[in-house]
Amino acid sequence: MKFTLTGVVAMDDDRAIGYRGGLPWHLAEDLRLFKRITMGHPILMGRRTHESMGRLLPGRQNIVLTRSLAYRAAEGAIVIHSLAELEHINLQDPEVMVIGGAQIYSILLSQLNKLHVSHVHGSHEADTFFPPFAGQFPHIIAEERYTEFIFRTYSR
Ligand SMILES: NC(=O)c1ccc[n+]([C@@H]2O[C@H](COP(=O)([O-])OP(=O)(O)OC[C@H]3O[C@@H](n4cnc5c(N)ncnc54)[C@H](OP(=O)(O)O)[C@@H]3O)[C@@H](O)[C@H]2O)c1
Repeated sequence: MKFTLTGVVAMDDDRAIGYRGGLPWHLAEDLRLFKRITMGHPILMGRRTHESMGRLLPGRQNIVLTRSLAYRAAEGAIVIHSLAELEHINLQDPEVMVIGGAQIYSILLSQLNKLHVSHVHGSHEADTFFPPFAGQFPHIIAEERYTEFIFRTYSR
């Protein structure tokens, strides 16, 4: 099946995205937005991000990338060991949402068609960062302002 890859990420002013296996913030508004954007789409994530969520996200095919052949993901998740395996999945929708974390964003940045970013205001304690992306995604095609972040959609 032919598919496209769209990135979805929340990052702060320093491009921070994670801290100690979780998010550096708790923003209910961003979680609602994330749900709206990803619902009905396959979501592709790294093993650590899958574990940080601790459950399947309903209404979406949860696809987990790991190198471990023995890995047991949450029941119902689709485990893959290379991106080539994506080709063989019967996807619920051809727009696959790449939802992190940093390793997965870094591997796939050059293959993303579009990037949805919640720009969280300020700096936060963090140990995981999104790679520099502005040069690859110069166009802002949508923008919405929320209390604690600005949501932008970028294209190439
Ligand atoms: N702010 C946001 O929008 C956002 C979004 C997502 C995640 N996060 C945060 O980001 C952090 C997690 O990010 P992370 O970079 O540490 O981990 P990650 O990208 O979620 O997962 C990394 C794992 O993916 C697997 N992997 C990576 N490259 C692979 C490849 N080429 N082939 C097969 N498997 C591969 C490996 O799993 P194995 O070790 O099992 O082989 C690796 O350990 C957490 O703090 C999380 O909360 C933030």
